[in-house]
Amino acid sequence: MKKILIAVLTGVLCAGYAYGQSELPLLQNARAYEGTTLNGDWNYIVDVQEEGYYDYRMNPTSSGFFRNAKPRRPEDLIEYDFDKSPTMKIPSDWNTQDDRLFFYEGTVWFKRSFLAVPITDYRTLLYFGAVNYDCHVWVNGRKAGHHIGGFTPFNLDISDLLREGENTIIVKVDNKRHAEDVPTQIFDWWNYGGITRDVMLVKVGPVYLQDYSLQLQKADAKAKDREISFSAKLNKAEAGHTVKVSIPELKLEQQLTTDAEGKVSGTLKVKAKNLQLWSPNNPKLYDVQLTLDASTIADEIGFRTIETRGKQILLNNETVFLKGISIHEEKPNGGGRANSVEDARTLLSWAKELGCNFVRLAHYPHNENMIREAERMGIMVWSEIPCYWTIAWTNPGTYDNAKQQLTDMITRDHNRANIIIWSIANETPHSDERDTFLGNLAEYARTLDSTRLISMAMEVTGASNYVNRLNDNMNKYVDVVSFNEYIGWYRDVNDAAKMSWEIPYDKPVIISEFGGGAKYGLHGPANQRWTEEFQENLYKENLAMIEKIEGLSGTTPWILKDFRSPRRVLPEIQDYYNRKGLFSDKGEKKKAFYILKQWYDSK
Ligand code: GCU
Repeated sequence: MKKILIAVLTGVLCAGYAYGQSELPLLQNARAYEGTTLNGDWNYIVDVQEEGYYDYRMNPTSSGFFRNAKPRRPEDLIEYDFDKSPTMKIPSDWNTQDDRLFFYEGTVWFKRSFLAVPITDYRTLLYFGAVNYDCHVWVNGRKAGHHIGGFTPFNLDISDLLREGENTIIVKVDNKRHAEDVPTQIFDWWNYGGITRDVMLVKVGPVYLQDYSLQLQKADAKAKDREISFSAKLNKAEAGHTVKVSIPELKLEQQLTTDAEGKVSGTLKVKAKNLQLWSPNNPKLYDVQLTLDASTIADEIGFRTIETRGKQILLNNETVFLKGISIHEEKPNGGGRANSVEDARTLLSWAKELGCNFVRLAHYPHNENMIREAERMGIMVWSEIPCYWTIAWTNPGTYDNAKQQLTDMITRDHNRANIIIWSIANETPHSDERDTFLGNLAEYARTLDSTRLISMAMEVTGASNYVNRLNDNMNKYVDVVSFNEYIGWYRDVNDAAKMSWEIPYDKPVIISEFGGGAKYGLHGPANQRWTEEFQENLYKENLAMIEKIEGLSGTTPWILKDFRSPRRVLPEIQDYYNRKGLFSDKGEKKKAFYILKQWYDSK
């Protein structure tokens, strides 16, 4: 078949014909493939009553917005027009792009057109970094797919929906909350809706590398030879394809042939003296090339090991103390979903300034820029799925949703050396149903990735006078016991330093949250709530207390920066912001920042 010249002008994109138009297993490292961004201006229609979803009249001028219908005759009735509707910069949340949508929870329709020329040798995947929360996608009026979950990527094969010339993508996004969702109906962050991360068309061959993994195997500190395990799988169960992995700087190369399942696996041997291990002090990344038949993609991968031994966490066989901070995915200055490299660099530079080598990315998987910038900056990461508070533990669809989000989080990031902990939950009330749900998730996570540590943020239940007791059945499922405590804030005792803790588990301990609120610039005596002095004293008391906890391996105080929450409504103080940040919502440091920084610098 004659190939039509591929021109990539003004978004002209080669598009392949292929089969299937549904959600495919997530393409790991989509950014490595040739693609075209669809970021930019998208038209949008706010659809409070779901007018656009239903075809009242089964005819070409029906109201279904996904048809992007236009009047063809003077008498035709069409009650919408994307091209005359306003535009929004994508990726973004709609709450901060249109004042009318600040509190909006419902459906918004988006439309974007682009040019394509058909080529038979390739397929086109439509890749979304994330859409919050429930989204349906049409291409040229035909259904391309449906995805739920607001913080993980997904890709749709739209190859056989494309045509020569102009193509139109329409996306219906609904961020309404439901009891059976993940997260459920209540959560202490802003329900930012929309196409909140990058959108791109990815060009892949009929057969492509859907996933691959490079992982340094554990060995004792004196081992002279190290082994890097390599595995990869195609999008199809096809034998006989050649897969080659090479790491030029290490002079490593291996060529393998796929088996009947379209998989390969092997081991690369390297002299320990030649291998620079990834660490906060030396965040070494190696250029890696992966070739399938005749096409090559590139990645940058760091090699390190992470494990526990008794109450210690070991990075590359050395005990490490995790000097962390919790972070929500919100722009550094003001609100709105963070997504850009610049957003990531600013937030992470604040964490570095605080003395951190670790961040807890709460309470959901953050955008890929945040992970990759942290990796370059030598910052270890706790990555978490939003099984937050009162999840519908007995609802099978809820479990499948959580499991899918866990799968996609791990698929996207399991080659990132800086991710050391997968977290499956935050502050979930104790019950047998919860233990079954989360216990299954923890075991499933290990089948996907046996190299990282599993944890979750538990909550303290037992406390009498000055003795606090952690008692959570989930302790047997996790590698690291982590819990949130709010002594001095939700428990009105200001002398945390006198407190002691009983944690009857022979595992490392992370204090995954502690803290208190302060309005930046509000000053007064240390016992006056909301002053910077109150927060400063709370940090002093809590740090004096947690330092004494046996097996303490780290802490991620709550939180780097004030963030928007619909639950925080105190006028002149909160004004819909949770004020527990060490930075204000405008990036100004509060006094408690210096207390934590001094403590970390002393570690
Ligand atoms: C909880 C929860 C956070 C919340 C914080 C708070 O522990 O994990 O998501 O924002 O406490 O109350 O500020």
